[in-house]
Amino acid sequence: MKILTHSPEETEEFGRKLGLKLKGDELIALYGELGSGKTVLVRGIIKGAGCTDVEVKSPSFIWVVEYECRFKVFHVDLYRGEMDFPLLIGWLNICQVDVSIYFWR
Ligand SMILES: Nc1ncnc2c1ncn2[C@@H]1O[C@H](COP(=O)(O)OP(=O)(O)OP(=O)(O)O)[C@@H](O)[C@H]1O
Ligand SMILES: [Mg+2]
Repeated sequence: MKILTHSPEETEEFGRKLGLKLKGDELIALYGELGSGKTVLVRGIIKGAGCTDVEVKSPSFIWVVEYECRFKVFHVDLYRGEMDFPLLIGWLNICQVDVSIYFWR
């Protein structure tokens, strides 16, 4: 499936609809160049997941941000974190019970 958006608002709205459908055991991998709209999408997903008044920013310098929504959402930066494989497996374990948003470019 291919979805094309034409504004940040449209991308965020798509994310919100996606977030509404999440149950809390999903893992979402985001790939995209700098400034390609990953964080805008995540902002929508977090809203749809039930966090309506939080500020969502790129976790680039802190690696991971946790949001308490209908379930826990972890927004993880796998790029600057230089996460190695064992650590990634640990994260995948966490992902079995929580939504994790992986952010990779
Ligand atoms: N269709 C679109 N969808 C999302 N963002 C868009 C769109 N068109 C323009 N933009 C703009 O592009 C920028 C995307 O920024 P965003 O922080 O989401 O990117 P990013 O992929 O998270 O970047 P980084 O890798 O630096 O964290 C925003 O300034 C947004 O307003
Ligand atoms: Mg970002």
